[in-house]
Amino acid sequence: MKPLPSSLCQRLLNGPLQVGDLELAEDWLSREFQALETEPEADIPSLGEPWHCPLLTTDEGNTAATPGRLHALAPFYLLEGAWLARIALPTNGHETVSALLLRIFLDMVGLEDPTQSPPLRFRARLIREGIQLPPLHGPGFFIRADFPASILRFCTWHLVLMHRPRRFLPELLGYTLAHACRVAESEEEPGLPALRSRQAAWAREAVDAGSRQGLCGERMNRGWALYIRYCRAVLDELPAWETEPNMTQEARLAGIIKAKLPHALGYHTRVRLQGKSLDDWLREQTGDLVPLLHALRESPRVQVQCPAASRLLRAMDFGGPMFGVFSASERQAFLNWIEAPNLPPTPVDETAAGNPESRDDTDPPSARAAPPPQARRLRRELYLALLRAESPDDAPPEAEAVIRRVLRRTRWLHPLRWGAPPFEYSAESLRAFTETRHRAEIDRYRPLQGAPKVDRDFCRWVIRQLAPAILNDGAWLADIAGPAEHLDEVRRYLLRIYVDELGAGHPEWNHPNVYRRLLEEQGIDLPAFDSEAFAQHPTLLDTAFEIPLYLLAIGLFGERYRPEQLGLNLAIELSGLGAGYPRAIDILRYHGMDPTIIRLHLSIDNLASGHAAWAREAIVLYLDEIRRLGGRTAVEPAWRRVWLGYQSLQAASLGLTACIVGRYALHRWGWRV
Ligand SMILES: [Fe+2]
Ligand SMILES: [Fe+2]
Repeated sequence: MKPLPSSLCQRLLNGPLQVGDLELAEDWLSREFQALETEPEADIPSLGEPWHCPLLTTDEGNTAATPGRLHALAPFYLLEGAWLARIALPTNGHETVSALLLRIFLDMVGLEDPTQSPPLRFRARLIREGIQLPPLHGPGFFIRADFPASILRFCTWHLVLMHRPRRFLPELLGYTLAHACRVAESEEEPGLPALRSRQAAWAREAVDAGSRQGLCGERMNRGWALYIRYCRAVLDELPAWETEPNMTQEARLAGIIKAKLPHALGYHTRVRLQGKSLDDWLREQTGDLVPLLHALRESPRVQVQCPAASRLLRAMDFGGPMFGVFSASERQAFLNWIEAPNLPPTPVDETAAGNPESRDDTDPPSARAAPPPQARRLRRELYLALLRAESPDDAPPEAEAVIRRVLRRTRWLHPLRWGAPPFEYSAESLRAFTETRHRAEIDRYRPLQGAPKVDRDFCRWVIRQLAPAILNDGAWLADIAGPAEHLDEVRRYLLRIYVDELGAGHPEWNHPNVYRRLLEEQGIDLPAFDSEAFAQHPTLLDTAFEIPLYLLAIGLFGERYRPEQLGLNLAIELSGLGAGYPRAIDILRYHGMDPTIIRLHLSIDNLASGHAAWAREAIVLYLDEIRRLGGRTAVEPAWRRVWLGYQSLQAASLGLTACIVGRYALHRWGWRV
């Protein structure tokens, strides 16, 4: 079995994706599923049955996992559940299947209690065992460390499913069920059996819901079988990683040197090995470092009889020419390698022509042509394209233009003293601003006396026009989820908000679903919000799509627009607190309409300990991090972007607000909608 390129895993996990990466990985996964059709895995348990595959426990079942085994399995355990990171998107977050799978994902990342997250607990175990691996979200996790080929493949499938949760939904259901049904080993964390059994119950429920929804059972079976097949493949490969430590040491050393190569060339012209400069060796052997390691081992720089006295190692110590180039653990890896009595054979050449899996770290981007630029889409078509995008990679080119347009409009409005005046940032000034604004809004509220100025029909019209925005509630944070280790404090705050908007795994709590009930109660008949008929519906204003377009676009490009996303998030969470929501509740109640959607936001967005408070804390933490990384001078530009994002909500809402105000004026003059 040949490995997939580790750089592809790295890009699928952390980006940026190169043109064709995703399509290529998706093709490979599709071929795996096809192979399971023509060549089914033997002895596969029935869908949903508990099954055993002792990855951490050795054959006898009573031996602790060796460091080699833990190292080899690290990507598998650290990425547990990552394939569900994008399972609840704006387009499907209201459905039962994704709500149930979202519960499993939240369990895996330990949203409420990170100490219970299995991937984070595994990282803690690696640290306890002295196994140093780069962070998953860093640039070097897959590049710097070596892992078994089967693990790299397995992780690739995790990551393709993460990017393609809609396209492979039936397979992903079976895959998740297989994960949850694997019987926990005695070597795994305490508490895992209980966690797996509740996840298995949710996964079975999700499979049932998927079947009722018409998802293909055969495809679910293939997802189930693929997960089991790869667990078995990993199991077969593991012994080599603990019984042949020399191979591991050499592979590790080659990985370390490879990672330093780009910055090492040019510094070693005077170091000679077998008559050739070390620079020349490095230049010639970027792919396969074994001949270089042989030459180095045979040189006077290495003392096999007394490894610790080797000149190679001393050069890494204080005063030596390589001091500071290698970390203590990397120096140890050199020592381990010198101590190893036998060198392993040359690894398999993966660059055989014609093999689609032969791309290595030095390969150029896929030769597949970039998709042709699409014609400028109309606002409503673009709404559908953004809603249907599974990954930022799918976002049409106009998506970013939507963001830039709104931000430009926000800047134009600034000199007109539109919105709140800017202020110099400090955590205290931000807190004071939100408190003052909130207090002013509360003071503005006067309970409704008598009949409101708008009638029932006007309210129904507004409810209809707000449907495109509220049916996409949460969309501005759609990119926030990720593997457990990717979730720093800022992202955890944002994820908690996002998950609440989606109903935290309960379709009946999902905010768009609450709104759907209001639409239904009021007899406001609209097609499914992700359909062409909805996007083209003649009763919806063009401007009703402006806000959701912006929210969806920010949710796809949050990585690039994080400061603006944070500011926008605060503006949204603060928007109705104080006077807005209570007044709207009074009006709806007066007309006998269900105000649940507004009451829900009034409570959940609260500034004491709800969404508005989390939104504010996320900004404070984000800017703290900016200050740590870039110093005080870096904070001001970042804050200006956060503030721009905060103000952008008004700019994005301008069109619809103008239409509603205009309609209200006509209404006051007696014109009826
Ligand atoms: Fe909401
Ligand atoms: Fe909220």
